[in-house]
Amino acid sequence: MKLRRVLLAVALVALHAWLISILAGGPADPFDGGGASSGAAQTVHNFPDARDLPPAGWTGPVFHLSQSYPQSLPASGNEPWLQYDFRTQTVDYLGAILGYALDGNVAVDFQGQSNAVRTWYHAPWLHANALKGREFIHGLTRERDSPASSLAPTQTRPAENWAVSLYNPPGGYVLGQVWANRDAPDPTHARFPVGTVAFKLIFTTATVAEVPLLKNDLEWQADIDRATDAGPRPTLRLLQVDVAVRDSRADATTGWVFGTFVYDGNAPGATVWDRLIPLGAMWGNDPQQLGTKGRLTETVINPAARGLVQHLGYEGRLNGPIDNPASSCLSCHSMAQVASDLSQPTLPSVPPAGASSATLAQYFRNIPAGTPFTAGDESLDYSLQLQNGIANWAQATGVRFPPPAGPRGIEPRMLTPSEGVRITPIGR
Ligand code: HEC
Repeated sequence: MKLRRVLLAVALVALHAWLISILAGGPADPFDGGGASSGAAQTVHNFPDARDLPPAGWTGPVFHLSQSYPQSLPASGNEPWLQYDFRTQTVDYLGAILGYALDGNVAVDFQGQSNAVRTWYHAPWLHANALKGREFIHGLTRERDSPASSLAPTQTRPAENWAVSLYNPPGGYVLGQVWANRDAPDPTHARFPVGTVAFKLIFTTATVAEVPLLKNDLEWQADIDRATDAGPRPTLRLLQVDVAVRDSRADATTGWVFGTFVYDGNAPGATVWDRLIPLGAMWGNDPQQLGTKGRLTETVINPAARGLVQHLGYEGRLNGPIDNPASSCLSCHSMAQVASDLSQPTLPSVPPAGASSATLAQYFRNIPAGTPFTAGDESLDYSLQLQNGIANWAQATGVRFPPPAGPRGIEPRMLTPSEGVRITPIGR
């Protein structure tokens, strides 16, 4: 009974991908979207851009997945954040990262492949999710909803949040390596080099009346009510910007610095980007301070921004306004991994309410870059977009058993899709 439902769902997803590929002039095999690896030197990708095609007559912007991943590790180029110590110059460090992330992207409305300064890349397979999959206007995927009052005391109803993320060239190289064989992602390549940067723009459906800080904001129309295909396509406002940096100076803890910004429409800056206020950074989970109420030494919160948010993360660790207060950026991202047998269920991303101190100690460890949360699993090196992409891929193709064989160029280290695929996209 359950299996039949899964089979039906998989068939529907495959049919849908097939229809999209037909419309895009692609091949007629519902399990083959087109591009195939043709040798290690050149990989042609053809991952779908979005869950749905634009409706006929659509004249607005259309999202295209930036997927011409570099074939060899690109030189790191200018890394302005290295001038600053994230521990003692946190606000300057975050400012340098934000400047780098915006450089050339603002001019092209964050179409990473059109950036004249450096190309930025998207993670694939985030389209294939009925409720959360990428919408076609800006490539947004659904994030955690914000309960009433969690964004502002005047927020009287829950808001939906939707986001798009981009990786810089070293990060894009790794995305391409993991997905070099488009039919068999290889998690052993998920080791981001020092200098990798990812950032994420998070938009909310909350209105200015509900959350007054959102005034004079960047607004994006988004196709988020597709279930009915009737529209309307609501206007969302920029709420939060997340960054993740692979920085060797953090190797003693996690190897990563995660930071976040909140939009403050009352701030004096001239542009939306000048009004993004750094909330803080973290490079470890402060495992020594669990339950102690002691001062955290691996999270820094900008005192000037504390009043802009209703909560932080667990016991004051860094989290953004849309995030679950029982978690932290690095706690949730430290779980980025896959079991080699995809019938293993995905672990809950946030510790359960009333978790024992032993469980909390698991969730708030400092796990080095490239090391799995669960011994024996494959680490995805803090990338939950890689994890969710693989989970979506496994869900959509898992019944194809045994996995597709044959020369696809790069020999994959196969994950084991099985009829009982239980890996699922991780929640936020
Ligand atoms: C409880 C889980 C959770 C928490 C807490 C969380 N994230 Fe994430 N994050 C996710 C998931 C899931 C994704 C991928 C989903 C997507 O992009 O659609 C993601 C994606 C990202 C990405 C894109 C690259 C990647 O690693 O996948 C960045 C950058 C990011 N988060 C930064 C942050 C920052 C900074 C914080 C804290 C302010 C944070 N996250 C807190 C779950 C979480």
